[in-house]
Amino acid sequence: MRVSLLNMEEKHLERVSALDFKLAQRPWSVSMFKEELRLRSFCRLLMNEYGVVVGYGISRLQVDEWHLLTVGVAREFQRQGYGFQLVADVIRKAALGYNRSVLLEVRASNVSALTLYKKMGFETLYIREGYYKAPPLAEDAVVMSRRVQENDRKIFL
Ligand SMILES: CC(C)(COP(=O)(O)OP(=O)(O)OC[C@H]1O[C@@H](n2cnc3c(N)ncnc32)[C@H](O)[C@@H]1OP(=O)(O)O)[C@@H](O)C(=O)NCCC(=O)NCCS
Repeated sequence: MRVSLLNMEEKHLERVSALDFKLAQRPWSVSMFKEELRLRSFCRLLMNEYGVVVGYGISRLQVDEWHLLTVGVAREFQRQGYGFQLVADVIRKAALGYNRSVLLEVRASNVSALTLYKKMGFETLYIREGYYKAPPLAEDAVVMSRRVQENDRKIFL
């Protein structure tokens, strides 16, 4: 299977949002994705040769730090390195732009994402207790950051 890393465009949004609906505990609406395109956020897509969306990642630059707002890989394509690729993509973008770091927040129970981020050098900054409100259980958010290094400009995707 050939998978390409592309800039997300409006024509992709229905497919991206359908995938996000399957993956995320709090899925985004199409208009939320649209807003990120409008803001010229870093909206990226992994798509195979049949037009199937394999994964997506959206990050927004705030001052000198990229916030990874959402990332997901379709279940049938997980554990094949695509999540790593999407996160590496924004790290490289930050390095090329001489930005300081990449920041994200993740549910404390999300073992796959936490493992991925730690593997990629993210460190916990702090815990936001009860940040995700989903009665009857609230869940903590782990806020993580990775400092960008000069070498990250050479990340090969
Ligand atoms: C988190 C997510 C993006 C990872 O995508 P992925 O393509 O499966 O990740 P990769 O194949 O690149 O995995 C890289 C490494 O992350 C870790 N990892 C990924 N999934 C894991 C799992 N289920 N359990 C433990 N470690 C895991 C492993 O260290 C893995 O390396 P390995 O396969 O060599 O052991 C994917 O699980 C996903 O879309 N989850 C649902 C949406 C989500 O939670 N997004 C994050 C919100 S903050």
